Amino acid sequence: MAAPRLIMKLRVAALRPTGGETLVVEFQHPRKPQLPAFTPGAHVDLHLPDGKVRQYSLCGDPADRSRYVIAIKREAQGAVSGWLHDHLREGMILPVSAPRNHFPMQPTEGPVTLVAAGIGITPVLSMARALGAEGRPFALHYVAPSRASAPLLDDLEALCPEGSLHLHLREETGARPDLEALLATPAKGAQLYHCGPAGFMAAVEAATRHWPEGSVHSEAFQPPDLGPPQPFTLRLKDGRELPVAANETALQVLRAAGVPLMASCENGLCGSCECGWSAGMPLHRDRVLSPEARSRRFIPCVSRAEGVIALDL
Ligand code: FES
Repeated sequence: MAAPRLIMKLRVAALRPTGGETLVVEFQHPRKPQLPAFTPGAHVDLHLPDGKVRQYSLCGDPADRSRYVIAIKREAQGAVSGWLHDHLREGMILPVSAPRNHFPMQPTEGPVTLVAAGIGITPVLSMARALGAEGRPFALHYVAPSRASAPLLDDLEALCPEGSLHLHLREETGARPDLEALLATPAKGAQLYHCGPAGFMAAVEAATRHWPEGSVHSEAFQPPDLGPPQPFTLRLKDGRELPVAANETALQVLRAAGVPLMASCENGLCGSCECGWSAGMPLHRDRVLSPEARSRRFIPCVSRAEGVIALDL
């Protein structure tokens, strides 16, 4: 099970609108000058008054521990994002978790390419800040329909060294960028990080299939859609076998059986409910485990299995 995360009561220190119906929110601790450190790509959990929990990437400066900065896009169908836009006020106190990073930057001497669309710019922005602070060259490709709909564009333009920011605005080009051409030739030792809506990320993944293994990293906002769920069975270490119906999750079944597991997003995005598996055929539906971790770890809030899967619980 993943370690419990510190939850702090943080004060909303500043609010400002940015492009694409997005609200930039700055949190500070009401008494302490420093918050727990974070690395580029990290996110925090925001705990809402109705008990819902949402993950937001930190887009501020990792070197500035006095504040956490997130950006919340008002989603058309998003009751939570709508509530936050309508109700957040400076001075409010909200429970915010310590940061966790499922999208860390890898050590490399090679060039770094950052690719983001829309609100996917948030983790990429903190990466650009860190690379800029280290004086390391990078290329950031930012895709949006227009300047007005591109969150945090002013921040990017202020911090990116000349020549490093490549804007792909459909209002100017009349077309989506040709990702295949843009990402055709990976330089030696190159690392690429991308984030954005599901269709965009699928397009980046298709355009980078020929890149060396382990050189392309991503973070998604939604778990992958792998078709209608099928029933399967969990086997626990004490020998119990727990059937999971098509309309249930493994997490629900484990809870009902009294197995203690933490959970936060219940969407396969935060990693809180992670556990181990030792035998069976898992069907991974999460967006947090690395390909390597999938050979031994399992995310029961979304992942399923074929037949029987033995869990380390
Ligand atoms: S509760 Fe977030 S990944 Fe399972």
